[in-house]
Amino acid sequence: MEEQIKVLRQQMEEALAAVSSKDELAAFWQAYLGKNGSIAALMKGLGKVDKEQRPVMGKVINQFKAEAEEKYQAMREKMEAAELEAANRSEQVDITMPATRVSAGALHPLTLVKNQIVDVFAGMGFEIFEGPEIEDDDHNFTRLNVAKNHPARDMQDTFYVAEDIVLRTHTSGAQIRVMDAQQPPIKILAPGRVFRSDSDATHSPMFHQMEGLVVDKNITLCDLQGMLDKFVQAMFGEGIRTRLRPSYFPFTEPSVEVDVSCFECGGKGCGLCKGTGWIEVLGGGIVHHKVLENCGIDPNVYSGFAFGIGIERITMLKYGINNIGLLFENDLRFLKQFQE
Ligand code: PHE
Repeated sequence: MEEQIKVLRQQMEEALAAVSSKDELAAFWQAYLGKNGSIAALMKGLGKVDKEQRPVMGKVINQFKAEAEEKYQAMREKMEAAELEAANRSEQVDITMPATRVSAGALHPLTLVKNQIVDVFAGMGFEIFEGPEIEDDDHNFTRLNVAKNHPARDMQDTFYVAEDIVLRTHTSGAQIRVMDAQQPPIKILAPGRVFRSDSDATHSPMFHQMEGLVVDKNITLCDLQGMLDKFVQAMFGEGIRTRLRPSYFPFTEPSVEVDVSCFECGGKGCGLCKGTGWIEVLGGGIVHHKVLENCGIDPNVYSGFAFGIGIERITMLKYGINNIGLLFENDLRFLKQFQE
């Protein structure tokens, strides 16, 4: 038997030396170390060996097996290392090759302006609140002091989704939702899409607004104007002034239309301000006491102001865009001009 092992060892070493692929290595393992391999056959042959000799031979076979396993393992590691090296070599990057250009895209001008507005008001301590785009009649109108047959409903051409369910015509419904959810002091900004059946060079059936609401003790129109002064200066430049004109909204009393001094001509009068020196930028006012009451806030203790900014309008003014359609066509020749 010992002779047999010697021959087998010789054969094994030659076989292993001839192995040149992983498949061949696997076949080698089967042939020598597998269940039906030569070493297993030796083990089976132990039965025929003399009883006294058996433990000794068993030990010899086991040693041979360990040796074969070790050699197999060493070969395997060598092959894997060679494979890895080859893979590394083939995947090497040529850093002198010219790069493929990836165009990064950029923020849409409406997003730029929205972010800028949010930044200005966040700096004054406003928090963001987002209401739903599909709104019920209650939040969009009724609790904002616009009853069912109120003529002010005609101010906004409304898209109805179902009876008493509308695509919100303004972000003012967020005022109600916030006041339902929290007690004063309140200081929120509610940006979002709004919808009106209206379409021309300066109106789009879908556009964006930014609602502001502040409710606390002793809030006055002066607070609104002071805050808006800071806002327009951040948006249009130092030295820009605001002017409040009386207006009407059912949910504010008094209501104001806010103009800024023309940032194009400095107030002398030009094409942009149509010779008036002033440009209308937003609407606002003191929250109507009925709106506070509708939300369970005592108007004898608290007061507030609200305003609504049209984001398209600010964007068009800021960048001198004369047709609102440009903001929605997504023509790259237009959009690329806003790439930073
Ligand atoms: N919701 C009004 C509009 O869409 C704007 C506004 C908001 C006016 C808040 C007053 C207070 O025209």
